[in-house]
Amino acid sequence: MRTLTVALDARSYPIHIGEGLLARTELVAAHLKAPLAAIVCNETVAPLYLADFSKALRELGVGLTEIVLPDGEEHKNWRTLNHIFDRLLENRCERATTIIALGGGVIGDLAGFAAATYQRGVPFIQIPTTLLAQVDSSVGGKTGINHPLGKNMIGAFWQPLLVLADTATLKTLPDRELRAGLAEVIKYGLIRDLPFLEWLEANIERLLARDNEALTYAIERSCANKAEVVAEDERESGVRALLNLGHTFGHAIEAGLGYGEWLHGEAVAAGTAMAAELSRRLGWLTEADCRRIAALLGRAGLPTAGPALGAERYLELMALDKKVAAGKLRLVLLRRLGEGALSDTAGSAEVCAAIEACCHG
Ligand code: NAD
Ligand code: GLY
Repeated sequence: MRTLTVALDARSYPIHIGEGLLARTELVAAHLKAPLAAIVCNETVAPLYLADFSKALRELGVGLTEIVLPDGEEHKNWRTLNHIFDRLLENRCERATTIIALGGGVIGDLAGFAAATYQRGVPFIQIPTTLLAQVDSSVGGKTGINHPLGKNMIGAFWQPLLVLADTATLKTLPDRELRAGLAEVIKYGLIRDLPFLEWLEANIERLLARDNEALTYAIERSCANKAEVVAEDERESGVRALLNLGHTFGHAIEAGLGYGEWLHGEAVAAGTAMAAELSRRLGWLTEADCRRIAALLGRAGLPTAGPALGAERYLELMALDKKVAAGKLRLVLLRRLGEGALSDTAGSAEVCAAIEACCHG
């Protein structure tokens, strides 16, 4: 088992990464405030992992409530959140009840927001079971739900007490989901870790083949990058915004097509290609850099072009981004490979041109 720490003073917490950790329920029990927990899972993950995990926790004397939600990004909304609250209240869950998210980023974001708000905040543990959740969404305390007008628009910062990433759970992950997770892995290389980008270029096939050693390394390196950024800027007043490379374009794709149509990681990949193209138009990246980024995303089986929503529609959706300040769009771009930068220098015409250059049809 490898352990990293997210350093946030009194709210610091460990990220354990390793094969078979789901069976190590003592690692979870050690972080419970009381022997009470509510596990939030979904209809896909529950038949795979919930029964064994719950049984082992019950054997340690933990009183459990299980909450199984429908699967899908389209359910990351108020209705599903309210269902969690219904179940917590029906089962008399208390302030000392720890909410445990067992699943991908959708479950983590929903369960985390429920933990942040139920009885004004209860303890929370993340057990991510997708690559995307293990490398990104389970770390850093962003929780929330979508609004029909914008992605992740309602939420709270609420740090977990523990992140437990069992790499064995990735064995059951569909190929398309594994590829989507790679978009967020590649992101770290592009914004702040050039040696990792080079490692990814050399090892992407091992990751696609689910080589456990390669996956563990990629998860650890991604979490180390994320933990450093979160420790420096928990509430995203500065450097944390760089973790959103490709996301402003990507969120427009997700909201524009309807949540669940494209996977989050797929939309981020196409958005990354757009951000690279815009960086090239500003004179920051070379054509060769853009080709290199597209080649890596392509080898990871990810899209490098977005759907033809029309550049104006993209801009309309992007105007709702959380990074907008004083009405001005701010985008994460690349000053060079391995160095992201938050910028408001590009005008609408340049942004539109970059979008058009990276759209199908
Ligand atoms: P997801 O949660 O929808 O999971 C993807 C699919 O894999 C689902 O169908 C799920 O049921 C299934 N699944 C999960 N684990 C499995 C397993 N081990 N075996 C088989 N199937 C499994 O999607 P995701 O890609 O994990 O997360 C995307 C979400 O995360 C988006 O809503 C995005 O906005 C959010 N996100 C949040 C943050 C953050 O900082 N909070 C960061 C990045 C992304
Ligand atoms: N996924 C972006 C962040 O956590 O800040």
